[in-house]
Amino acid sequence: MDTLDQPTALLPGDVRMPLLGFGTWQATGEAGHAAVLAALDAGYRHVDTATMYGNEAEVGRAVRDSGLRREDVFVTTKLPPDRVGRERETIESSLRALGLDHVDLWLVHWPPSAASDSIPVWRELIAARDEGLTRAVGVSNYGTAQLDELIQATGEVPAVNQIRWGPSLYDRRRHAEHRDRGVVLEGYSPFKTTDLSDPVLTRIAAAHDVSPAQVVLRWHVDHGIVVIPKSVTPERIRANADIWGFSLTAEEMRDIDALGG
Ligand SMILES: NC(=O)c1ccc[n+]([C@@H]2O[C@H](COP(=O)([O-])OP(=O)(O)OC[C@H]3O[C@@H](n4cnc5c(N)ncnc54)[C@H](OP(=O)(O)O)[C@@H]3O)[C@@H](O)[C@H]2O)c1
Repeated sequence: MDTLDQPTALLPGDVRMPLLGFGTWQATGEAGHAAVLAALDAGYRHVDTATMYGNEAEVGRAVRDSGLRREDVFVTTKLPPDRVGRERETIESSLRALGLDHVDLWLVHWPPSAASDSIPVWRELIAARDEGLTRAVGVSNYGTAQLDELIQATGEVPAVNQIRWGPSLYDRRRHAEHRDRGVVLEGYSPFKTTDLSDPVLTRIAAAHDVSPAQVVLRWHVDHGIVVIPKSVTPERIRANADIWGFSLTAEEMRDIDALGG
């Protein structure tokens, strides 16, 4: 499947981010390389890594081995908290490990432990983007007040906030706070946050002849939320990408939203 065939979120700078991505935390070494290669073969066109995951070299090698054009794969990596003050050196080392001359999205992995570092770190990400080392910049694990602090200080809106998200964490207001600011919400740990045997999910899955896991992923996408399931199991990698043949009704969406309490 070509990138353009998949739903995307539009980031500033005309950057298209596929709503379905592939998570790679704890997918390291040869298993990590094989998983990313299987994911690209299954149709994912977006891969999420981080300096902290210790697998950038394998992720980059899999992107090259896939034979896909660089511009058809969206690659995210992240700045770890202990690299505050060494941002430039960190992205250069990510790019070397990945074997790429730029990434598509660079995120601050966690808010810096010293609040006074927040703005300087954000300015360093913006500088890296302006130099072409990354096409877009954003954050991860930020609260709305922390997003506002960055926006007010620099006038630069984080393109993305990657946060823990899933039906059990659904929060309409928090989603709206991102939309109102033009920040794309990217959810992580869609399965770890979900009871896949929940009767609401199993009922909806049966109605569409799909699995509860596929329902959870489709629910994100139908909300316009980016989702990045991880798996090192070939059948799951393929099944998690096979979510385009059905869609959820408005009533089903509301029933799943209600799992957020
Ligand atoms: N920014 C952050 O702070 C942050 C934090 C956490 C995660 N992330 C990102 O988000 C990605 C996803 O989150 P995650 O890895 O924490 O959790 P996840 O994707 O919710 O869950 C992964 C687990 O679910 C299993 N699984 C995969 N597909 C399944 C299916 N169809 N049915 C049942 N189980 C299935 C996987 O097993 P197998 O692998 O054995 O198949 C693995 O144990 C990460 O890989 C990472 O890229 C970011």
